[in-house]
Amino acid sequence: MNNSIVILGVQWGDEGKGKIVDLMTKYSKYVVRYHGGDNAGHTVILNRKKIILHTIPSGILHEGVLNIIANGVMISVKSLIKELTCLQSHGISVKNGLAISESCFLILPHHVAIDRAREASKGKIGTTLRGIGPAYEDKVARRGLKLSDILHMTSFEARLKEIIDFHNFQLIHYYHSSSIGYQETLEEIISCSEVILEMIEDVSEILNRAHDNFEPVIYEGAQGTMLDIDQGTYPYVTSSNTTSGGVSSGSGIGPKRCMGHILGVMKAYSTRVGSGPFPTELHGSIGELLRKRGMEYGSTTGRPRRVGWIDVVMINKSVQCNSISSFCLTKLDVLDGMERIKICTSYRDREGKEIDKIPSSLEAWKDIEPVYEILPGWKGKVYKIRDYRFLPEEAIRYVRRIEELTGVSVYIISTGPSREDSIIIKNPFYC
Ligand code: GDP
Ligand code: IMO
Ligand code: MG
Repeated sequence: MNNSIVILGVQWGDEGKGKIVDLMTKYSKYVVRYHGGDNAGHTVILNRKKIILHTIPSGILHEGVLNIIANGVMISVKSLIKELTCLQSHGISVKNGLAISESCFLILPHHVAIDRAREASKGKIGTTLRGIGPAYEDKVARRGLKLSDILHMTSFEARLKEIIDFHNFQLIHYYHSSSIGYQETLEEIISCSEVILEMIEDVSEILNRAHDNFEPVIYEGAQGTMLDIDQGTYPYVTSSNTTSGGVSSGSGIGPKRCMGHILGVMKAYSTRVGSGPFPTELHGSIGELLRKRGMEYGSTTGRPRRVGWIDVVMINKSVQCNSISSFCLTKLDVLDGMERIKICTSYRDREGKEIDKIPSSLEAWKDIEPVYEILPGWKGKVYKIRDYRFLPEEAIRYVRRIEELTGVSVYIISTGPSREDSIIIKNPFYC
């Protein structure tokens, strides 16, 4: 039995983590977000309505569960208030269901302005424009402001003024953009933070106590492994550690306690929003079909997601750097009716040499060609099937082949967007 499971994405994000966290929350007492910010868009479904969560953990639909925003998460107070209001409009109360670490750093308006200014200039990353990169830069540069700093208003005001002046210089003189007003920023923070500060708790103490008592905890990852600042397709990545290494530092819990089982969420094909290498990308009608069927449009930005075949070279890198214990395979239903399904098993480099590792430099990514194995598709439907035995034979063959190529078992298969459209072959909490 594991009392802690980490649920994280093994591709480029949007693998369906929100749905799976919501599904597994039934077996948990705590759900913890430990990195990233409102760049995440995690979809959960309540009474057939889609709710997209950005900073709040995906266990929020369940009563009797404490959802925790831990120290590694970046908070935009304005965006968090918007999210809370949206939940209220769906009749979801967060009272007693949400706790926030006072050590979370703030995403401030100048971070968003810098993100926008950079994306408007050359060399776009294709960010979500939420100010994530600039906010993490301030944290690492040791000039960031935390939620706890708001509790000491006099020094907060002075530091806020200093940091805004510092960044306005860059905005005006380098990006030729408008400056950010100190007074407006301060007023926004004061007006939004009252509700948020009421939710502050010593979350690492709560979690350590939960682990002492062997209570079940889910650690919910955002983005995906290939967007990890260290392990991903740099520089086309986000600015945090999306891999399992980030769980401990982002939650304040020792690695041996928080990583009982690591469930890698993997889409049955690949998608990516934003720029950067994507060897298996499909540009023609098959890609268009998958995008339409899978409704592959960004949950945060609405941008069409780039679509391609599954890439086992990349997944094997994810298995290694996360210590993946098992997979959850999502959106298998989107492949219903495909005549043939391709799996990328290796790459060919510019000299024609076959390689089974992802390149580490942008230059080396340039002439990478995928090498495919082709499997037959299936005639029946996977959509909404809730029992493994009723899956079409070829769908089982596809799942088995992924297991063979990665050496990792598939514990959960997702066959539709709703919680109920799931096959739990083995429950990661009970193995
Ligand atoms: P996340 O960021 O990893 O939580 O994923 P997103 O919520 O951004 O994107 C996943 C999308 O796929 C959402 O619209 C989900 O409702 C949907 N989804 C999740 N699992 C499945 C599935 O098994 N089948 C289908 N058809 N849709 C799914
Ligand atoms: P979830 O949690 C997919 C991508 C952006 C961009 C890069 C950097 O829903 O899976 P950022 O705004 O973080 O500086 O952007 O990372 N990105 C995501 N792509 N899903 C996400 O989150 C993402 N969060 C960031 O598109 O390419
Ligand atoms: Mg998403």
